[in-house]
Amino acid sequence: SNTQDTSMLHYWSYFAKGVGYTLLITVIAIVVGIAIGTLLALMRLGKSKIIRGIAVAYIEFVRGTPLMIQVMFVYFGIGLIVDIPALTAGLIAVSLNSAAYVAEIIRGGINSIPVGQTEAARSLGLSQRQTLQSVVLPQALRNIWPALGNEFISLIKESSIVSIIGVTDLIYQLKVVQSATYKGIEPIFVAMILYFVMTFSLSKLLNFYERKMKHAN
Ligand code: ARG
Repeated sequence: SNTQDTSMLHYWSYFAKGVGYTLLITVIAIVVGIAIGTLLALMRLGKSKIIRGIAVAYIEFVRGTPLMIQVMFVYFGIGLIVDIPALTAGLIAVSLNSAAYVAEIIRGGINSIPVGQTEAARSLGLSQRQTLQSVVLPQALRNIWPALGNEFISLIKESSIVSIIGVTDLIYQLKVVQSATYKGIEPIFVAMILYFVMTFSLSKLLNFYERKMKHAN
């Protein structure tokens, strides 16, 4: 008879590891995505036609191709030159992907601040840089906070694509547990609930800070 333990509880450490990798990729991608995305947004709003063109091309191309193929492209493309761990490739691909989406969120946020604000600041003697830093960006940040939160939540779900190159995220782990237990649906169900716990908690947390920001004037 079969003495192997096939209860999902027995495999909790696999799921925990998967959740850990999923959160790791998501957090790094949102941080790097905000950094590069801000840069891209400023490039796209800048005066230089060439720099604007570069930013537009990047943003449109990245948003116009599937994340799945970008993950494969980074992994196998860089792999032609140097040996790259799947996790590193996944982190690069998801971060660069998110940067394009974040760039558009930030550009929208900056455009949402009336020009009158900039004109007023400039006529008070603030430099272009000071105006952006102390007048436009703080207000834009408050406006884009909800959209950035949505991007964060999207990344928890979209990062699941990295499992195709063998990154040991939650999707990958559910397949490992399927093979070990010969159970098809149970690991899927556990992973699905875990994804929901992650996105729902994050959404509650973000709402909490959003309310706090609204009252802090
Ligand atoms: N699944 C879509 C794709 O493959 C959306 C990716 C979303 N990425 C993001 N950073 N929000 O293109």
